Amino acid sequence: MTTELEVDAVVLVGGKGTRLRPLTLSAPKPMLPTAGTPYLSHLFSRIRAAGIRHVVLGTSYRAEVFEEYFGDGSALGLELEYVVEDEPLDTGGAIRNVYDRLRAEHAIIFNGDILSGADLREQLRTHVDSGADVTLHLQRVPDPSRFGSVPTDADGRVQAFLEKTPNPPTDQINAGCYVFRRSVVETIPTGRRVSVERETFPGLLEAGAHLHGFVDSSYWLDVGTPEAFVRGSADLVRGIAPTSALAGPTGESLVLDGARVADTAVVSGGSTIGAKAEVAAGATVTGSVLFDDAAVAEGATVERSVLGRGARVGEGAVLRGVVVGDGATVGAGCELLDGARVWPGITLPDGGIRFSSDA
Ligand code: GTP
Repeated sequence: MTTELEVDAVVLVGGKGTRLRPLTLSAPKPMLPTAGTPYLSHLFSRIRAAGIRHVVLGTSYRAEVFEEYFGDGSALGLELEYVVEDEPLDTGGAIRNVYDRLRAEHAIIFNGDILSGADLREQLRTHVDSGADVTLHLQRVPDPSRFGSVPTDADGRVQAFLEKTPNPPTDQINAGCYVFRRSVVETIPTGRRVSVERETFPGLLEAGAHLHGFVDSSYWLDVGTPEAFVRGSADLVRGIAPTSALAGPTGESLVLDGARVADTAVVSGGSTIGAKAEVAAGATVTGSVLFDDAAVAEGATVERSVLGRGARVGEGAVLRGVVVGDGATVGAGCELLDGARVWPGITLPDGGIRFSSDA
């Protein structure tokens, strides 16, 4: 089926990505290599597959990096435009800020840090069929108590936006992807910070606007935390998360150009080994992401962790659920456990430092 609806795409990529520090000190979150390619490439492949060509990026933090990498988008079959906020305007403010670049009657807006398998054409069709002002992708999740929830009535109309509670009345949560009627974007206040989740949506509901739910239960993950980032990357590598932008075939690992993995090393669980990275004899790398030029020495164990560009892990070190910044070194024999983060360029000396966030 072709998309009957003329639609622009807007991707919000201006956040500082504080939860992913220190990786986001050198690159904005949507540019972090995920299964061998910037996360945004996966989203662009999805947008393109839905038949959409015109994409506006709402940028703020490290704005220049996006255009340097993706240019005008023609290599991806897209027409990319960049709009920069001098001061971050938050999600709703960022949507309003791209209003004058919108050409079609409707726009589909994406948070730039969600991996999702939801069918965009179905969401657009739901929007047209219901005649809604805004159609929100609502994801059904196993544990809705961790999120605010969004109940809908029998016709699919949104009834409320509820805060996080231990016993939410529905398992539907706001999945960070919305189709807006262009005229509704114009009603968002200009020139100040506006949260689309906390201000725009509740305000529209209060004013009697028609907000509709597109309820879905396919793959969905917010990759905003280190744990989710490694999981999302591993899911892409293993073919669990959908994409057509993978840098190689799906499987237990993705080893990029010029990387060296010793015969007696074990690389599994959807790990990515970046270009020119090294995994030495007897080392184990599971469910992890090694950026380019990272190195894991003999007999070391790296599980559910991210090693930044050029980071080094010494002999026999053990890392589980850890983020190591660009160019940092974890000395031989160190043991770093869940939540530990090593800042870029730092060297932890050999000799068995043990650190755990809950120690
Ligand atoms: P944290 O600091 O770790 O919470 O990450 P974040 O800054 O990315 O915030 P959050 O995950 O809540 O943002 C959701 C989406 O909105 C992400 O794709 C952000 O890039 C984007 N975003 C958040 N704030 C802004 C903003 O002020 N301007 C723009 N253009 N995008 C934003």
